[in-house]
Amino acid sequence: MNIVSVDYDGLIPNNVELGTDVRVKRALEKWHPGYIDWWNDMGPEGFQKSLVYLRTAVSVDPKGWAKFDYVRMPEYRWGILLAPQLDGRKIPFGAHAGEQAWQEVPGEYRAMLRRLIVIQGDTEPASVEQQRHLGKTAPSLYDMRNLFQVNVEEGRHLWAMVYLLQKYFGTDGREEAEALLQRRSGDPDTPRMLGAFNEKTPDWLSFFMFTYFTDRDGKMQLEALAQSGFDPLSRTCRFMLTEEAHHMFVGETGVTRVIQRTCEAMKEAGIDDPYDIAKVRKLGVIDLPTIQKKANLHFSLTLDLFGNEISTNAANAFHSGLKGRFREDRLKDDHKLESGTYPVLRLVDGQIKNEDAPALSALNMRLRDDYVVDCNAGVGRWNKVIEGFGIPFQIKLPHVAFHRNIGEFSKIKADAQGNVLSDAEWSKRRSDFLPSDGDKDYIESLMQPQFDIGKFASWIAPPKVGIDNKPGDFEYVKIA
Ligand SMILES: [Fe+2]
Ligand SMILES: [Fe+2]
Repeated sequence: MNIVSVDYDGLIPNNVELGTDVRVKRALEKWHPGYIDWWNDMGPEGFQKSLVYLRTAVSVDPKGWAKFDYVRMPEYRWGILLAPQLDGRKIPFGAHAGEQAWQEVPGEYRAMLRRLIVIQGDTEPASVEQQRHLGKTAPSLYDMRNLFQVNVEEGRHLWAMVYLLQKYFGTDGREEAEALLQRRSGDPDTPRMLGAFNEKTPDWLSFFMFTYFTDRDGKMQLEALAQSGFDPLSRTCRFMLTEEAHHMFVGETGVTRVIQRTCEAMKEAGIDDPYDIAKVRKLGVIDLPTIQKKANLHFSLTLDLFGNEISTNAANAFHSGLKGRFREDRLKDDHKLESGTYPVLRLVDGQIKNEDAPALSALNMRLRDDYVVDCNAGVGRWNKVIEGFGIPFQIKLPHVAFHRNIGEFSKIKADAQGNVLSDAEWSKRRSDFLPSDGDKDYIESLMQPQFDIGKFASWIAPPKVGIDNKPGDFEYVKIA
């Protein structure tokens, strides 16, 4: 293993010896002002001058990568950090399995590789744009800090992808790096590349659901790219995954705290029926059925990010050694998938059925299955909280056919259990499954800022422990 320490002296902190790579250093320094402009225009609104207690990586080894201090976000040290190069690493899968990992772009796969990097890169600034209004309604300074931590790290993830484009893809890489700063989430003319990244994140429950469900798609994609035969991409993604873990922590604990507060308030008021929504809402907390609907929405939007169940692009990316399966290195098979099948849920004569498909074509489906398993673990922990209060309610992930815009089930309407519905039934029952205007208005009415040190909004419980083990009355953001 070659560990290169992080160079903090220049404009761009890095552990890729940028100081000796004049061409790439210049290209990134040229890109930098546009990035700062983008951050100022599209990053967190209203808090750019505030001091935020953020962590910054000072090295990439497990102990040294998180150092906390107050920083104004535009002055955050966004840098280029790759996990250490592993000596003698081999391409772990596909037609080139067992060959030396590529340190340069393999010419025949150049376009495909560039596209994978651009798509990943595009999601990073998109989520910052989606979340830019949330600071103003933060339920506490603790939560505000977590939001901004996620935002600056998504900014760093953009830097990570832009580094690969600038270093390995010449002129077209430079053009793609510029375009990443031009697209805007939700813009009708220049939208971000993927659907879920053009949706709104209107309130904090959405933010927690987004970081739970959608950042977890990010984790799955990064895990698959971390297996890449293109070693610089693998090393980049391996380090990004360390940061990504915090985003999912924010999501999982955020939803847990909302659920906990709801259950506590119900118990204090002697309400046992989770479906007595009017009564529960009088307590200033979010009723469990509405939390379920939010989960339905964000889970289904995120499933679309996995693409078509049967996909030649996914097959090609695997076969050529660019994008592996979830934790490919822990799987026990030939890592080529040239024979073999995988069960895929399909729509057959209007019925949802499992059908075996060639394993190579079914890779999106497989990654999505792994994702659903990963999602369910946290949902189980949410249900433990509800169970602890003795309230008869369980959060359940909806069926994968529910509310889909991409893939097999985009042609049909299904309820949360996966029963096929007519268009008329769907319209009639839509608000049983997804947040209605009334639900949205209610949640919006709760989104009152709570900026007092150590205080929390009515609808969310405080965290069990502070960030960096800080006490409950710690001032995570010094609002300017
Ligand atoms: Fe990210
Ligand atoms: Fe993330």
